[in-house]
Amino acid sequence: MTTPPNRSHGRKSISATLTPQDLMAARPRLKGAWTAKVLTLFPKAFPGVLGESLTGKALDEGLWALEAMDLRSFGVGKHRNVDDTPAGGGAGMVLRPDVLGRAIDAARAGTPEAPEDWPIVYLSPRGAPFTQAWARAWSRARGVTLLCGRFEGVDQRVLDHYPIEEVSLGDFVLTGGELAAQAMIDATVRLLPGVLGNAASTEEESFSRGLLEHPQYTRPAVWKGRAIPEVLMSGHHGQIEAWRREQAEALTRARRPDLWAARKP
Ligand SMILES: C[S@@+](CC[C@H](N)C(=O)[O-])C[C@H]1O[C@@H](n2cnc3c(N)ncnc32)[C@H](O)[C@@H]1O
Repeated sequence: MTTPPNRSHGRKSISATLTPQDLMAARPRLKGAWTAKVLTLFPKAFPGVLGESLTGKALDEGLWALEAMDLRSFGVGKHRNVDDTPAGGGAGMVLRPDVLGRAIDAARAGTPEAPEDWPIVYLSPRGAPFTQAWARAWSRARGVTLLCGRFEGVDQRVLDHYPIEEVSLGDFVLTGGELAAQAMIDATVRLLPGVLGNAASTEEESFSRGLLEHPQYTRPAVWKGRAIPEVLMSGHHGQIEAWRREQAEALTRARRPDLWAARKP
């Protein structure tokens, strides 16, 4: 897979977002910065863990931007209702298409239409499994819109009407899409130029070369009677590289035969 093109970062600007919480936390944003728009009933859950460490620093510096849009503000009537009972009966509630439609239209305003430039995603256990390849593709787009479901999910007509991809964090059921959105945004943002100090680290880590990563060690040299493998202390870069490669291959074969089989020689 090729390296994402270097994004040119322009002047900083402050742009208004849709929730008071975002307005409070208005941050400088580099013009054209990669942007995640998140449609959620829980905008206060953002930035959450994305506000920490490298992703948080990059957010503060405007290298990427986050707009948490409150689905409730698109709700119906005095109580801003967003859901109703499932047609045909059954447990739980379903998010209404008219509410979601207004929210998606608002999120789409001013964004590119081509899905490769700005994917619109519904977080869903029924979706395609999220992988590093998705993160790479999204990092090459100008941004992404993520719709977080709650309750029994969303009215199917929304998924049929818009060019929406359904993407899953894994084969389990979460209470809502917010945690999945944060995980996927994290995986994407760390691939953006300038977010990680050491760009080489994303090339060597798990999945980047179709392999799981080799084991890592650090000081002390011996811990609870366990020594760091000698080769890593040898200073011999060729041997270290060969050892790491062997370890990565052995781990991948043992733990992920699917990845190993899919690897291109
Ligand atoms: C309780 S779940 C709904 C599950 C749905 N009734 C089903 O069985 O497929 C509520 C919301 O959580 C989110 N969610 C749950 N599991 C997820 C997963 N594995 N990946 C991504 N999003 C998930 C989705 O947005 C979903 O609409």
